[in-house]
Amino acid sequence: MTDIKNVDEVPAEKPRGMLMLRTLTMPADANPNGDVFGGWLMSQLDAAGAMMAYELCRGKVVTVAVDEIVFRNPVHVGDVVCVYCRVIHVGNTSLKIQLQMWTKHNDEARTSRVKVTECGITYVAVDDNGVKRHLPRELVEHKDELILNGYESMYSGNSQYECY
Ligand SMILES: CC(C)(COP(=O)(O)OP(=O)(O)OC[C@H]1O[C@@H](n2cnc3c(N)ncnc32)[C@H](O)[C@@H]1OP(=O)(O)O)[C@@H](O)C(=O)NCCC(=O)NCCS
Repeated sequence: MTDIKNVDEVPAEKPRGMLMLRTLTMPADANPNGDVFGGWLMSQLDAAGAMMAYELCRGKVVTVAVDEIVFRNPVHVGDVVCVYCRVIHVGNTSLKIQLQMWTKHNDEARTSRVKVTECGITYVAVDDNGVKRHLPRELVEHKDELILNGYESMYSGNSQYECY
């Protein structure tokens, strides 16, 4: 018998990438309307991506570019904010991380997960003087695997990378 699926059924989207940041929003993070301030949310995105970039670049990085950020849903005080990251490009001195921000609303069971925004951020590896430097050789050598299989793929065998 053929399994006929309803064409209107769209599979629910799930967070994509590694969970790099998870935090509880506080009254101090609110805008004058009482929802969470967009600038605070943007800084959480940058911090989450930077944590991944620091580890992969094995040292200092700076943020050079942020793609368009569109907030699709508000975040309320008391919601849990989660940021998921995955590397989508590895260059010579820079890498680009795709970030998704999701919230769990402050309902009884925190079961209603909502996607807030998604954007790409590019980080450049720099030396102690803030001058760009080449990405670590191991990172460049494993870039295809990293992009295809995710951050955890760096933590195998004799890799110099260690999982958090
Ligand atoms: C980032 C910085 C070190 C780049 O120095 P630079 O010598 O001008 O470097 P380049 O223009 O050659 O760019 C370096 C890399 O960034 C990438 N890059 C530069 N501008 C970019 C942009 N608008 N979008 C995406 N990538 C960009 C380049 O493609 C290059 O990548 P690659 O080496 O992997 O190919 C320098 O511009 C800087 O210090 N900026 C300030 C950073 C900062 O203070 N950020 C905020 C706080 S962290």
